[in-house]
Amino acid sequence: MNVLITGGNRGLGLELVREFNKNGHTVFPVVRSKESLVFLTEEFTVRCHPILADLSKDESIEEINFQISAYVNCIDLVINNAGIPGKTYEIEKIDTKELMDLYNIHCLGVVRTVQATITYLRKATNPHIINLSSRLGSLSKVSSGQFEKGKFSYSYRIAKAAQNMLTLCLDQELRDIPISVTAIHPGKLQTSSGAYDADMSPEDAAIRIYNWLLKSKQDISGKFIEPLVAEMSW
Ligand SMILES: NC(=O)c1ccc[n+]([C@@H]2O[C@H](COP(=O)([O-])OP(=O)(O)OC[C@H]3O[C@@H](n4cnc5c(N)ncnc54)[C@H](OP(=O)(O)O)[C@@H]3O)[C@@H](O)[C@H]2O)c1
Repeated sequence: MNVLITGGNRGLGLELVREFNKNGHTVFPVVRSKESLVFLTEEFTVRCHPILADLSKDESIEEINFQISAYVNCIDLVINNAGIPGKTYEIEKIDTKELMDLYNIHCLGVVRTVQATITYLRKATNPHIINLSSRLGSLSKVSSGQFEKGKFSYSYRIAKAAQNMLTLCLDQELRDIPISVTAIHPGKLQTSSGAYDADMSPEDAAIRIYNWLLKSKQDISGKFIEPLVAEMSW
């Protein structure tokens, strides 16, 4: 498979790049700095073509589309993983710039990546888009009081809820092509963006996502899933 993974230079994204590359797939990690590009070029000597683009900007659409064209004419799997954490936990302290920055990457970043890759996805036999959502974007989980008050940011939960709606809109539009679109919660990961209750390494999470994708025989489009654990409520 040809697999494009945004935010592929650290955290879960890097472990996904490692897992897919190790298993013989060709990976296209999207990174936003030259240092990350050099790092990936040094670590992966085969089947890895880093793409330089800042997903917070509209220029990234053309940049990603153009850079892929140097290597392949089809992409089988797009993993929208890039993201940033939120910092403010109370309405009186909320920072509207932070709210806009998180919406820009978690939701608009996915829009940009899909716009950049859709012509390549259309050419694949069994194309998938996987959006890295979060348990914290689940309206049902928040409304049923599953998260302790004051421990999670406003901007992150709002941005991931918006991304979840985008997943459903994409599924509805692209289902007939068919391009499958799935939101996943990867677990509570011990990364620089991880929450206070993180309990899983990004390596283990990447292996779990990879194994889940291999085993997913039933229709996973339009679903919100914690891989190899359960389907989640939106
Ligand atoms: N950690 C968790 O417990 C957890 C739980 C549920 C869901 N998630 C989601 O899973 C995904 C990965 O999480 P993580 O913990 O691995 O995050 P992370 O370690 O903070 O890594 C985030 C990645 O996104 C990249 N990125 C951020 N802004 C970007 C931009 N404008 N353009 C291109 N790349 C950009 C970063 O690149 P730089 O190195 O250049 O900053 C980095 O590679 C995120 O979407 C996160 O919300 C995480």
